[in-house]
Amino acid sequence: MSYPQSRPRRLRRTPLLRRSMRETRLAPEDMILPLFVADGVTNPVPISTLPGHFHHSPQSALTECEEVISLGIPMVLLFGLPAAKDERGTGAWATDGAVQLATKAIKARFGDDLLVATDLCLCEYTSHGHCGILAGESVDNDATLEAYAQVAVSQVEAGADIVAPSGMMDGQVGIIREALDDTGHQETVILAYAAKMASAFYGPFREAVDSTPAFGDRRAYQMDGANLEEALRETWLDIDEGADMVMVKPAGPYLDVIAAVAAESPVPVAAYQVSGEFAMLKAAVEKGWLDHDAAVLESLVGIRRAGAKLVISYLAKEAARILGGPRGS
Ligand code: PBG
Repeated sequence: MSYPQSRPRRLRRTPLLRRSMRETRLAPEDMILPLFVADGVTNPVPISTLPGHFHHSPQSALTECEEVISLGIPMVLLFGLPAAKDERGTGAWATDGAVQLATKAIKARFGDDLLVATDLCLCEYTSHGHCGILAGESVDNDATLEAYAQVAVSQVEAGADIVAPSGMMDGQVGIIREALDDTGHQETVILAYAAKMASAFYGPFREAVDSTPAFGDRRAYQMDGANLEEALRETWLDIDEGADMVMVKPAGPYLDVIAAVAAESPVPVAAYQVSGEFAMLKAAVEKGWLDHDAAVLESLVGIRRAGAKLVISYLAKEAARILGGPRGS
């Protein structure tokens, strides 16, 4: 059938008709909010490169989590900023580190009403800003794995429901699974940053946690963003090692990667709308060049349509507010 019998505009005539025809839905339950917790903070400190986001104390993180729960968002992803950094990033597995303390406090207050995922990496904790332990000028993969195993156990003993290794070391998912199983944490979920690109869009985040590498860059461990086949190989390896969920990151510039992973992945797929994606949108809104609410929803629906079950986003709260609470659009 073609025009004039076929008139696709018939199905777009009224708001209700359009709504009933919608193929992709976005709801607060689809989102994860990143949350920054810092040592030595009492009142929340605004993060200048991430407007509306703060370095929280364990206490102020609780207030934030209360709001997150009331908006119907099921999960937060914690990042930590230690008081002092060192060569090996030992703050990452300190039992009194900000992430560990905040996790403990959140789980004690909210129990199963909120899922706590913890980012698992060393870059926020190392004095040189790389994601692992150095041997000369490069990151020593296998020495780093041992540290990751320790970080995982410390986060889970603090109460994390989900650990999210983001350092892109080979074998990280397997060693974390083994360390968790050996310590009786068979139930803990691993959300693997499986296809994580060496991206220019992490800039505002690195400012926020002061993790810009002191020398070189992350291209020897994070992926070349031009590679789809490699992204699939990386993802299947993580699934073989025991990943319960896999993530593509960033999201917006890599929608084809999300789609390709989602088409074949036996486990749920998440995508991370990163700090630079957030910053671009906010900056354009500030200039009056974009409509905030419409752009927020369109950017997130696009990521869901590509195939992501869950979207990690600095816009999660705004989106939930726009959608009008737990029922979604
Ligand atoms: C840690 C990590 C990074 C991000 C999430 N986990 C930074 C990086 O790889 O440099 C970036 C998140 C964002 O930009 O929002 N490895």
